[in-house]
Amino acid sequence: MISRQEFARRRRELMDNMEENSIVILPAAPERRRNRDIDHAYRQDSDFWYLSGFPEPEAVMALIPGREHGEFVMFCRERDREMETWHGYRRGPEGAVKDFGADDAFPISDIDEILPGLIEGRDRVYYDMGRDPEFDRQVMSWVNSIRAKVRSGAHPPGEFLALNHFLHDQRLFKSSLEIKVMRRAGEIAAAAHVRAMQVVEPGMYEYQLEAEYLHEFMRHGARAPAYPTIVGGGRNGCILHYVDNNQKLKDGDLVLVDAGAEFHCYASDITRTFPVNGKFSAEQQAVYEVVLASQLAAIEQVKPGKHWNSPHEAAVQVLTQGMKDLGLLKGEVSELIETEAYRRFYMHRTGHWLGLDVHDVGDYKVHDEWRVLEPGMVMTVEPGIYIAPDDSSVASKWRGIGVRIEDDVAVTRKGCEVFTDGVPKSVAEIEKLMKKKRRAA
Ligand code: GLY
Ligand code: MN
Ligand code: MN
Repeated sequence: MISRQEFARRRRELMDNMEENSIVILPAAPERRRNRDIDHAYRQDSDFWYLSGFPEPEAVMALIPGREHGEFVMFCRERDREMETWHGYRRGPEGAVKDFGADDAFPISDIDEILPGLIEGRDRVYYDMGRDPEFDRQVMSWVNSIRAKVRSGAHPPGEFLALNHFLHDQRLFKSSLEIKVMRRAGEIAAAAHVRAMQVVEPGMYEYQLEAEYLHEFMRHGARAPAYPTIVGGGRNGCILHYVDNNQKLKDGDLVLVDAGAEFHCYASDITRTFPVNGKFSAEQQAVYEVVLASQLAAIEQVKPGKHWNSPHEAAVQVLTQGMKDLGLLKGEVSELIETEAYRRFYMHRTGHWLGLDVHDVGDYKVHDEWRVLEPGMVMTVEPGIYIAPDDSSVASKWRGIGVRIEDDVAVTRKGCEVFTDGVPKSVAEIEKLMKKKRRAA
């Protein structure tokens, strides 16, 4: 769990980096309708949560460095006995102060009267324009209400600055507490993959295997997957974002599962590819070994001083050589890389930042150069090979094989830590685990 002190530290760091005499305005995520009068499960906006830990919709936070009566101001829903009876607890402004460290808190219904007064006199507003048109209009109406009073001496802000630049750079570097939470998110997802390897069998539907993941996530307090779970049997493993998950798993096929848990808002993101019947065929194993070698080579590159693209370059090198050795690609390895011929079978990048968002924030390049890796950054390493079922350029025995192996890796002072090694990935270890069927619960 992220502590109150840590949320306070984050706000302090952001405020210390802000320009003189400025204000941050940040709204909570809106609720989203699922159908008729039912909403999707609520998930707080990652920036809002990062700075407050406040879990409710209909809230706005303002950070006003140097404000005498308090720098952290929260607007939120009031306590309401009847609404709480129907819809669940609300913290109310008093809870925002008592439990979330706000210096001042007001009912959200009073925001139009109060927030313009907080903006007035500030030179700059940090605000992410363009994310929510309705909130954009509200912000402009507050600013315009100040502009309308200039003849009475009001001082409207002269500048709008993007909040995300600063904040997202801050979010890129995980604290030791964040690492702890992310490590746990990784462990939970790894346990789910272990469970799946032990229960899968031919004839099962992909969604039945998905259910095993969701059960294991929930059981450990990860109340939602970090993204829609991908369970692709056989050729479905070649569809990168396959989420139909409605086909039968067949004897002799592989199943590719990309499943991660969200734990205290932090994502894990694991892919494993394993044989439905517990035993890899010769061709499946040959492709798998190439992907695994490329993943290990890429992880080897995750250490301080390497740059963001180093793991990708290492993975591409090993994949291309391996695909040439298997006869999937023909020609010189250097040329196959140069011309990007490998992209026929490996068309995505080797990873992304990981954090509160599964594709987490943070720049990949700085001044047009790949970012240098530093301790505290967390990323995925996820190479794959996908041979389309109708690819007549390769021998038919390879067609329809899709393999990806994905782990979550933190850069440490000395090298890296893999959060997700609780689930095996070598052929021998997977086959051994799959032999040990989980006893019926
Ligand atoms: N599951 C999303 C990804 O691997 O990027
Ligand atoms: Mn993934
Ligand atoms: Mn990923």
